[in-house]
Amino acid sequence: MAEKHHLILTLIIHGAGSHKQAWRALPDRDAFLSLDHYLEVARIAHRGTFDALWLPDIPMTISPPEHTPYHSVDPTLLMTAIAAQVPDIGVVPTISTTYSHPFTTARNIATLDVLSDGRAGINAIMSYADRAAQNYGDSDAIPYDQRQRRANEFLEVYRQLGESWTLSDGGPWRDQGLLFDPALRREINYKGEFYQVRGPLNVPQARTGRPLLSIAGGSEQSLDLAARHADILYAALVHKGAARDLVRDLHTRVQKYGRRPGSLKVMPGLVPVIGSTEEEARRKLEKLALEGGYATDPVQRISDLLGYDPATLHPDRPLTEEQLRLPASWKRPVGLFHSVADVARRDNLSVRELARVFQLDIGHRLVVGTPESVAEQMLDWWRDDASHGFAIRAQYLPEDATLLADEVIPILRKAGAFPEGYRKESLRERFGAHDDAPERAALAG
Ligand SMILES: Cc1cc2nc3c(=O)[nH]c(=O)nc-3n(C[C@H](O)[C@H](O)[C@H](O)COP(=O)(O)O)c2cc1C
Repeated sequence: MAEKHHLILTLIIHGAGSHKQAWRALPDRDAFLSLDHYLEVARIAHRGTFDALWLPDIPMTISPPEHTPYHSVDPTLLMTAIAAQVPDIGVVPTISTTYSHPFTTARNIATLDVLSDGRAGINAIMSYADRAAQNYGDSDAIPYDQRQRRANEFLEVYRQLGESWTLSDGGPWRDQGLLFDPALRREINYKGEFYQVRGPLNVPQARTGRPLLSIAGGSEQSLDLAARHADILYAALVHKGAARDLVRDLHTRVQKYGRRPGSLKVMPGLVPVIGSTEEEARRKLEKLALEGGYATDPVQRISDLLGYDPATLHPDRPLTEEQLRLPASWKRPVGLFHSVADVARRDNLSVRELARVFQLDIGHRLVVGTPESVAEQMLDWWRDDASHGFAIRAQYLPEDATLLADEVIPILRKAGAFPEGYRKESLRERFGAHDDAPERAALAG
């Protein structure tokens, strides 16, 4: 049996932190605009040997003036600035497959990858918000199926461009006074429903191979998209049973696309709340939920999460079978709905109990406790094949990054689950991502 790959950890950087009031904790209130702030966070993450930094994105303003601004600075530019100053760690900006062009993205990311010695990746998303659509000339978000078809084409073009120019170290062309082998640079001549791209890309692929590719989502279509294209699925998963089922599902789903079982890894979002005692951690959670303005009334909380009229919910009853089914009117990420519905269904929770599980985050797993107990909760899923790692949604930055790097990660290391340091390897190798180019070529041929 193959050796189990180490637990993978990425740190999500949401400006001053994912908590709405995170900006208040920093002496520099404009930290979300400060390269020094991001570099401090990145250096702490590097000290903890996090595998990568992850940057979510929505191309619009989503925060009122009293909240930490989310999705402000451009993720690819910020990641480039970080990669120039912080070694080793992976840099993974989020890219909208709805509103970016695959040629521009392939060029940006190939540039970041070659200049950072193979440390780049993307987290591909499909933009669902009407307000984002309105920044690109549309009146509403593109319909779901069309967004998914566009994403599929985007990722196909992105991959083909990434492979359209590769370098080799020697050959007869050297003696002819050529800088590179012209046979390894070719047009792709892609013509699809959304894109027509001639190629080749004007940046060659890094010698370390293609950049890492993650997809965020949880719908059937997103799982299929990830099974076809991605190395990582960034998912919202709270119920361990649901997470295990998903890992198993993807194991077989990838084979439909000629890929090896295990070539798509699952990274659920994780919200750690760490205290020096269990009691302190619990008090911290209550404070975070209160200050974040999350509804303390369970009916209101579940109504906020699932979009139901509060009058249809009873605090001490479970949701009905019909309420657990995705409403046709649902516009937000399907994965977030499923995450809440899965816990409610599998554990038969009342609205009140369910609201406690989701008191701080919109659909991701909350782990509360001492460094030992937080580490154990992470190890529990990793050991039982419920996830390959976690995308950490730090509430306060750099504070939570410090707690993780200095107090939680040493425990993961002691357990033999996390590496001591960085090796000289590409980000794909660090994630254990399999290079399936030969299999794809065989399939195409
Ligand atoms: C875990 C997770 C993270 C996501 N991150 C982002 C993001 O940073 N920006 C964004 O615009 N959409 C984000 N999305 C939304 C999805 O990319 C989008 O809704 C798409 O339709 C696929 O998600 P779904 O399959 O869950 O519907 C995220 C969705 C999930 C489940």
